[in-house]
Amino acid sequence: VDKFPGYIRNESFKKLTDQDVDYFKTIVGDNGLIYDNQDDLFAFNTDWMHKFRGKSQLVLKPKTTQQVSDILKYCNQQKLAVVPQGGNTGLVGGSVPVFDEVVLSLQGMNKIRGFDNVSGILTADAGCVLEVLDNWLGEKGYMMPLDLGAKGSCHIGGNIATNAGGLRLLRYGSLHGTVLGLEVVLPDGTILDNMSTLRKDNTGYDLKQLFIGSEGTIGVITGVSILTPHRSKAVNVALLGLNSFEDVQKAFKQSRVELSEILSAFEFWDANALEMFKKHATPKDVMEKEYPFYILIETSGSNKDHDDEKLTNYLENMMVDGVAEDGVVAQDETQIRELWSLREGFTEALGKEPAVYKYDISMPVPKLYECVEDMRQHLRDGGVFGQPDSPVTDVVAYGHVGDGNLHLNIAASRLESRVSALIEPYLFEWVANHQGSISAEHGLGVAKNEFLGYSKSPVMIKMMKTMKNILDPNGIMNPYKYLPSH
Ligand code: FAD
Ligand code: MLT
Ligand code: ZN
Repeated sequence: VDKFPGYIRNESFKKLTDQDVDYFKTIVGDNGLIYDNQDDLFAFNTDWMHKFRGKSQLVLKPKTTQQVSDILKYCNQQKLAVVPQGGNTGLVGGSVPVFDEVVLSLQGMNKIRGFDNVSGILTADAGCVLEVLDNWLGEKGYMMPLDLGAKGSCHIGGNIATNAGGLRLLRYGSLHGTVLGLEVVLPDGTILDNMSTLRKDNTGYDLKQLFIGSEGTIGVITGVSILTPHRSKAVNVALLGLNSFEDVQKAFKQSRVELSEILSAFEFWDANALEMFKKHATPKDVMEKEYPFYILIETSGSNKDHDDEKLTNYLENMMVDGVAEDGVVAQDETQIRELWSLREGFTEALGKEPAVYKYDISMPVPKLYECVEDMRQHLRDGGVFGQPDSPVTDVVAYGHVGDGNLHLNIAASRLESRVSALIEPYLFEWVANHQGSISAEHGLGVAKNEFLGYSKSPVMIKMMKTMKNILDPNGIMNPYKYLPSH
């Protein structure tokens, strides 16, 4: 399968030579790069879903910001295209080369730079793994303000480059709020030191915001300053079974009233998602019966008795009002982890299917599941779903209800152009018609860039292209991605 169908290499980019590699050796040393070794290069050329594959011959692993700067300065002068790479867990094909771009891996930049124990501000290299940071902070009574299923591999720099949302955005907000400062190397090698540790600073344009969610297209994030919350003493996780998405919404509305300040996550999935998980893994039996919908609620607070009482009252009300059919509360840390690993396991389960069309959209909460049902019908009407030999085998939904974010996954026995032609642009039109976004949290990469017009106006796209050209006039940073080609 052609991993990048229809793409044509931009011949204004130089092809890598042995002299270039020799020069890079003077910057990172012989051990700071992988060159021309297909086995070692494979993981850097292939994305997490094994959907996109590039042909880079060189991976550079700088250890300092100055090395990143020296590398980019040379690449810019020589017109060598570059792909910044963090943990390579991105889901839109943004972290791997399309052709022979040089991979600039941040995995060698993984030092914690400092921590202010009073204000909870952490400064770290961009290549620190999210879970490593979270564990380190845990020992000091703090935690990272974001959490996601890929935490064991993804880097904080990659999280910021994609503006990752995750499981607790509802409580701690987006990285646009928690990131206080960044150190970024611009495409010409200039080091932009904006490592502010201030919560308040109204002095000029807030330049760091431009890099949050820029997916490696205008610079390499090398350092991060981020506000971290206190780790809650009391954490509860409950799982509820419900009969309809109407009930999911009622439960969400009521959770804001009754759990208000202690609510830290509100996630949902449908019966198809649970089936998909069961197909590839064995969940602990948490409920006797099966339901069309499930919600996972997490509370985090400082007073266990107070939180327990609130959660118990809420759960009782949900049952008495007939909103929830069944509910369980995790009794210890192990059960909390089991419930979370069920929620976090859908991505991996779907990854084991022969093919998946993956969508990450946001829209007003009342419309979320209408979108899923509409898609199922649309695929049936199109003759690709619902029959024993149909290419589409399942339509699976889960997501972050609290953020109006739906993960719509269409599993198939094979990738087929008639299936993708039925889904796209139909789904994007649907989303645009309901004032939604075609990418809520995963970003654009190569999977969504050509559809940006469904979420942003021509004037906005033109301004984005202008900004890209100012910062990266040679277009060397993560080419062929993010912005539409026309
Ligand atoms: P990569 O995949 O390496 O890179 C992603 C993009 O950022 C690429 O365009 C790359 O060029 C760029 N980039 C990476 N590092 C830098 C840097 N230092 N400077 C400049 N550009 C850089 N996303 C969510 O939002 N919410 C979720 O809940 C969520 N859950 C996930 C669960 C699983 C199991 C998986 C596999 C992915 C999930 N994701 C989720 C996708 C998410 O985008 C990534 O997991 C994560 O944010 C990417 O970090 P990374 O270090 O792996 O970046
Ligand atoms: C999630 O919420 O599980 C992630 O965004 C990954 C996915 O969409 O599969
Ligand atoms: Zn998500």
